[in-house]
Amino acid sequence: MRKLTSDELRELYLKFFAERGHAIIPSASLIPENDPTVLFTTAGMHPLVPYLMGEKHPAGKRLVNVQKCVRTDDIDEVGDASHCTFFEMLGNWSLGDYFKRESIAWSWEFLTGEKWLGIPKEKLFFTCFAGDADAPRDMVAHDRWVEMGADPSHIYFLEKKYNWWGPAGMTGPCGPDTEIFYDTGKPACSPGCDPSCSCGKYLEIWNNVFMEYNKLGEGKFEPLSQKNVDTGMGLDRTIATLQGAQSVFDTDAYVPIIAKIEELSGKNHKESAQTVKAFRIVADHVRCAAFMLGDPRGVAPSNSDQGYILRRLIRRAIRYAMQLGMPQDSLKSVAEAVVARYGKVYPELEQNRAKITEELSREEARFQRTLKNGMREFERVKESLAGGTIDGVTAFHLYDTYGFPIEFTQEMAAENGLRVDVKGFEEAFAEHQKKSQAGAEQRFKGGLADTGEATARLHSATHLLQAALRNVLGEGVHQKGSNITAERLRFDFSFERKMTDAEVAQVERLVNEAIAADAEITCTEMSVEEARAAGAMGLFGDKYGERVKVYAMGNFSKEICGGPHASRTGELGTFKIKKEEASSAGVRRIKAVLE
Ligand code: ALA
Repeated sequence: MRKLTSDELRELYLKFFAERGHAIIPSASLIPENDPTVLFTTAGMHPLVPYLMGEKHPAGKRLVNVQKCVRTDDIDEVGDASHCTFFEMLGNWSLGDYFKRESIAWSWEFLTGEKWLGIPKEKLFFTCFAGDADAPRDMVAHDRWVEMGADPSHIYFLEKKYNWWGPAGMTGPCGPDTEIFYDTGKPACSPGCDPSCSCGKYLEIWNNVFMEYNKLGEGKFEPLSQKNVDTGMGLDRTIATLQGAQSVFDTDAYVPIIAKIEELSGKNHKESAQTVKAFRIVADHVRCAAFMLGDPRGVAPSNSDQGYILRRLIRRAIRYAMQLGMPQDSLKSVAEAVVARYGKVYPELEQNRAKITEELSREEARFQRTLKNGMREFERVKESLAGGTIDGVTAFHLYDTYGFPIEFTQEMAAENGLRVDVKGFEEAFAEHQKKSQAGAEQRFKGGLADTGEATARLHSATHLLQAALRNVLGEGVHQKGSNITAERLRFDFSFERKMTDAEVAQVERLVNEAIAADAEITCTEMSVEEARAAGAMGLFGDKYGERVKVYAMGNFSKEICGGPHASRTGELGTFKIKKEEASSAGVRRIKAVLE
């Protein structure tokens, strides 16, 4: 097996597929463009969805890249040997070109070939789709692995839960996959232990998805117009395998970051199981936060959407940094180590170095101001409860007054043998929002002067405006109020400074492009939770469990809203910003018309 560094693996992967006719494309942003179904890019295929669905890609039918990804679903697993919130995915794609036979042959060659990774074939295990009412058992994949030289006893057939892959949203391109595992040599946890087991014996390193279906809804599939291949190899995991490392945190990618934490904390990383976990969490979360802040479409900590996830990561890292005895304002130094390690491959980190360290310092200062009091409050709550459940109002108080994300309270509660009434928290949250919104509504009368057609068109333009502002100025932008008449719209939003002329022009252009696209404006009723999962904006003004209307305008905008709206964006005319000015501290106001 070749002991490659992570930089070498990236290069080798791209070279291998470039030699086989693949165009190398750059990593897309971590923040999906014009895709309201997910908050972050969770896989290399995400930015390629239109091309998997049949649109022509300018670089051709065979593509390869290294994509920055974020997945926070498994955040609680971070601390074990292999889970990370941020990761790099090595991927190769066939857009209606080659299919299973070539894909499997190349994966085999890259993994086992002496010139490439040189992994001994007896260390590799495979899973294939077992078949069900939607698609047949994948004997083609099975037979091809055997043909390449795989040991048939190393191939398992598993059901859809394990061997079917589609993007995070409910619908879209998907299909059966074949997954490749490395046997770490750990003893099997039980006689039934197989690659689907999470005991750590089998490490998934690569997934080849054969995307030939479009999922229309639960249990509803139609064949795609073309058969695609979408693969994803986890860089950290593969490197850990090649370097014979005990975990992804013991590889060349993480060693300098861990060393920085050792320096700051004065502790040896491997002192105890507890320090190992805390080191890994700080290292992972700061790496992820640095990539989120340093992205070209970078986010800043906030209380919603991407900004909330970022805030939660930073605050969680702070808690573990404190546990390790790291001095205050240490995270920025850990982030410096991340930039030093990754800056060559991801120059945006170098370019945004100041933003990364400043935002981390600012968020840490913000949190530190209330953290001690919050901890004291938590202790008080804990003592008064002596086991049992923290009620929703108390959890909301910890959030609202001391900045404890609900997940943070839940985690501390679990460590202390307590539970949290999360539903009660959501209700307290919604109640609070309703009160503050009621104030706003009185002022703006729901924002609309009337429900006539001209007002409805300007109302639709307001949705496009908000999406465009977030696109140009970042996800920190949120609606603070609106006032719409038949003649003009007024839109207040959170933003710290005056917009530049170029920014105003760009926002105007994006809105007019969305109008020119003449997208249908659709309204769907769903629960708040579904709206949240669909990535709709404006979630928190509504009661938990309540049904809401979500207005979508193509891929451009998705908002919870009561309407009314135009039926197509094409009806709006030409959008023109007349004025951009200060409204109050940290709030800007735009006045615009449709001509
Ligand atoms: N898109 C596939 C995955 O993320 C390759 O596993």
